[in-house]
Amino acid sequence: MNLILLGGPGAGKGTQAKKLIDKFQIPQISTGDILRAAVKEGTEMGRKAKEFMDAGKLVPDEVVIGIIKDRLAQADCKKGFILDGFPRTVPQAEALDKVLTSLSSKIDHVVSIDVDEEALVTRLTGRRTCKNAACGQMFHIKFTPPKKEGTCDKCGTELYQRDDDNEATVRNRLATYNQATAPLIGYYKVKGLVRPIAGVGSIDDIFNKIVGIVAGGHACACGR
Ligand code: AP5
Ligand code: MG
Repeated sequence: MNLILLGGPGAGKGTQAKKLIDKFQIPQISTGDILRAAVKEGTEMGRKAKEFMDAGKLVPDEVVIGIIKDRLAQADCKKGFILDGFPRTVPQAEALDKVLTSLSSKIDHVVSIDVDEEALVTRLTGRRTCKNAACGQMFHIKFTPPKKEGTCDKCGTELYQRDDDNEATVRNRLATYNQATAPLIGYYKVKGLVRPIAGVGSIDDIFNKIVGIVAGGHACACGR
């Protein structure tokens, strides 16, 4: 099962991907997480990427395409993968098609998670993320608070607020999404792969909708 989770910043891609890993035992590939790890390590790529990320802009295509090429070639992707935050531009989607063809593979489903913009701002400005990269669990101060304030329920590590989760950067990220990433819905619609779902409601209900889609169940544009 090769799945793309598409959706604006804060739509719940990471939240759903973490649940899908547990259910299907396939890796989540988040370019955002990989870039944040590079920023933390202080690599040359990380230093360059940080400027784009802090401004709510996209890191150049050639950088993220290189990351994805290397990642998809790894053995754990053979059983399937969940792409979270990639592709984000039409050239990235075209490059992905080429890479997958060279690996005799293809995308099976593109789940597009729809949430309105003001809800996304509220979600992101209240998000708290586990500092332990191997865990990376997300919480929300109002919607999904941790049992103990500032501490991850899963692994006990301290929570932090991402540098790009301030309102000004979030609004730039939304504008970037509308301009560069939303056209991907059309790109995958033509290929008959898009499954839009409403991304509001309980995290478990949204998860069940995604599982229904990948399990080959109800798959039309009605959002059920
Ligand atoms: P990235 O890390 O991919 O960020 P993003 O796409 O902006 O998405 P987020 O991670 O912010 O949101 P999410 O959809 O994962 O939501 P989450 O589940 O956490 O990218 C960051 C940056 O890296 C980019 O801006 C860019 O600079 C760069 N980058 C990355 N990939 C790139 C690429 N391919 N090309 C170029 N540049 C790239 O949920 C959000 C919050 O909502 C949480 O608090 C959660 O608890 C809460 N929540 C989730 N579901 C629900 C629900 N149903 N109800 C209520 N609250 C909910
Ligand atoms: Mg995410």
